[in-house]
Amino acid sequence: MFKSIYMKLFVTYLSLFLAIILVISFFMLSIFYREFTLQAASNLENAGVKTNALMGRYYSNEITRVELNSWINAMSYISNIKIYVLNPDTSRLSVGNEDVDMKLNSQIISDITEIMNGATVQRMNPIKLSSEDEVVYVGMPLEYNGQISGVILLFTPMTELNNVSREVLNTMILIIAVAVMISAFTILRSSIRISEPIVEISNYAIELGRGREIPDIEIKSKDEIGRLGRSFNIMKKEILVAEQMRRDIVANVSHELRTPLTSIIGFLKGILDGVIKPEDEKKYLELAYNEANRLKDLTKEIVEVAKLESGSTKLNKERFVLNDLAKEVKIELDGMVSEKKLNFTLEEKVKNIVLFADKDRIRQVFINIINNSFKFTDKGYIKVTINRKDKNAIIQVADSGTGIKKDKISYLFNKFYTANEYGNATNGAGLGLNIVKNIVDMHDGTIRVDSEYGKGTKITIHIPIVFE
Ligand SMILES: Nc1ncnc2c1ncn2[C@@H]1O[C@H](COP(=O)(O)OP(=O)(O)OP(=O)(O)O)[C@@H](O)[C@H]1O
Ligand SMILES: [Mg+2]
Repeated sequence: MFKSIYMKLFVTYLSLFLAIILVISFFMLSIFYREFTLQAASNLENAGVKTNALMGRYYSNEITRVELNSWINAMSYISNIKIYVLNPDTSRLSVGNEDVDMKLNSQIISDITEIMNGATVQRMNPIKLSSEDEVVYVGMPLEYNGQISGVILLFTPMTELNNVSREVLNTMILIIAVAVMISAFTILRSSIRISEPIVEISNYAIELGRGREIPDIEIKSKDEIGRLGRSFNIMKKEILVAEQMRRDIVANVSHELRTPLTSIIGFLKGILDGVIKPEDEKKYLELAYNEANRLKDLTKEIVEVAKLESGSTKLNKERFVLNDLAKEVKIELDGMVSEKKLNFTLEEKVKNIVLFADKDRIRQVFINIINNSFKFTDKGYIKVTINRKDKNAIIQVADSGTGIKKDKISYLFNKFYTANEYGNATNGAGLGLNIVKNIVDMHDGTIRVDSEYGKGTKITIHIPIVFE
């Protein structure tokens, strides 16, 4: 029936509150009513006992009839009680109120018989006597010298009780109304406080799904709702970062591909249009050739990254000796030294380190990190070390190159991230270390970068030695 959580909360709380208040009021009213009638009954009995005593004094001639009447009248008047004294034969001896012309109803007549047998009766359920208000009454035997010589009936009208009850009831209704109003207001506010952020979050989620920009959710409380808002804000940030990354990657990929293509097209067009002199043609064709090669490598890298990231690649594990692989790579890359005069060395701290891993990919790891060292080191050394410690093979490449600023180190493994501030001389796409990290992860290994800006860089990789 109630579609909104806010209405549900509101109605539930309010009805619960009302139910509790009504139950409490009911109990309070009935306690009050009982106390009041008990009080009335004991007043009536007290008056009865006093009347009995006065009658005794009258019978023993201590007081006159006139005195008796005035005493009883006074008592009757003060306590708003009608007092009747009847003879045993119920012929009417009336004292106090003279107008005893009341019709005794059947209830009272049967009570009188009981009283004459010595019982005291209390009728606290209001009865109606002719033309009068409703009354409650007490009847007791009139005793004198140990003999029951008559009946004392004492009536008190219900008017007072009714009036007081009505007043109490009215006050209570007023209090309940005010309490209900105050609590309705409070409940309404807290229901809104609970439901509003939920509605807000759900609206924002729809907006976010449509790709629209939304502000951060304002956190107003520290409870679960506040936590929901905080989680939503975190999620939003993550989505935006992921979305930004996707955009960057698309932009980067097309940029990285376009740059070499533009040069290739430029060189070829220059040759075709005759802008480039025939004797220079070979030089430009060579440049175009190099660019085309770079393009080929780049596409390979991009495909590699995509494959590694999709998780679809399976490792082709085999048993091989890491030392042999390192030596192969060293020979392969030795040619690069001639350009720069670097001290390029390989140290095998432990001989014959046998690994069970994907050899081609481990080769790629070597090549990528050693290539980086060559790119970013102009003088000094590049030192490759292989080692074994506990159950790990350790590959380390240290160089005396440019180093990397501390705040950039944590981004190195991101795709397309290049940290160098040396212009574009390095020609890197920023994929090499991302590929390395993926390969190391797939082998359950770890990679660590230690670098000091201006001094050099050390990359350390641990690969667990396991034979499955
Ligand atoms: N040995 C190093 N010395 C100094 N900076 C380094 C070194 N290795 C990596 N870097 C920094 O980290 C960045 C990311 O390296 P990564 O290998 O991922 O990309 P790249 O070498 O620029 O491009 P790619 O490897 O795709 O050709 C580099 O651009 C460079 O700024
Ligand atoms: Mg690289």
